[in-house]
Amino acid sequence: MTAICLARPVELIEAKTTAIIDELIDSLPDPKQLTSEDRRGIIARYSAVLEGNFIYWMTAAVIACKAERSGPILLDNLYEEVHDCHPQMMRRFAIAANAFPTDKDAWAVHNDLTNVRLFMGQLSPVKSVLTMAFFEGFIQKFMTFLADLAAEQGSTEMEYTDVHGVCDIEHTAGLFRALDAEISVTPQGTDEDLFEGVTLLRTLIEQIIWPRSEMCNNLG
Ligand SMILES: [Fe+2]
Repeated sequence: MTAICLARPVELIEAKTTAIIDELIDSLPDPKQLTSEDRRGIIARYSAVLEGNFIYWMTAAVIACKAERSGPILLDNLYEEVHDCHPQMMRRFAIAANAFPTDKDAWAVHNDLTNVRLFMGQLSPVKSVLTMAFFEGFIQKFMTFLADLAAEQGSTEMEYTDVHGVCDIEHTAGLFRALDAEISVTPQGTDEDLFEGVTLLRTLIEQIIWPRSEMCNNLG
């Protein structure tokens, strides 16, 4: 009880974020039990979201952040994304697993992807940085599963999963340091839902893994 009272806000937020990530990871299906089309679909929808949006959303977080300490942390992350060309790494991974996204894969995530895009457009400093901290933390823990899916599909191209299983540990820690800085500059009202972006992104991730069938037919 005492420890909880003395904990800084960012520590409580990080603990809650980690719990959400772990819940998602613990609920992942066994790649061996999935059909080949299920495995292809997960890689394809993940790729459809990640390739074109990760750098875009991290850029939104850079634009949104207000604390002096945050900028260098987020820019360092962006530098690596651009310098090492992570979108190409992602694309190579998907192609090697015969899972380059089709129009159907893109439509399957369309609505939930749009929701996250519009949220990031609000440029809320604390919520944006928290959303990206959640994203980095999730990606790092998701890599083993993603690599297993690709291996089951017969791929040996694992640079994307190898790189992100390691570098995102430091990136996630950095993002929580940035979150701490943002909270100190922009205190949140008690009625604010700090996890608004996390919830939207979690819904998108769930759609990647367990696509609701009606979404595939929703072309509007
Ligand atoms: Fe990356």
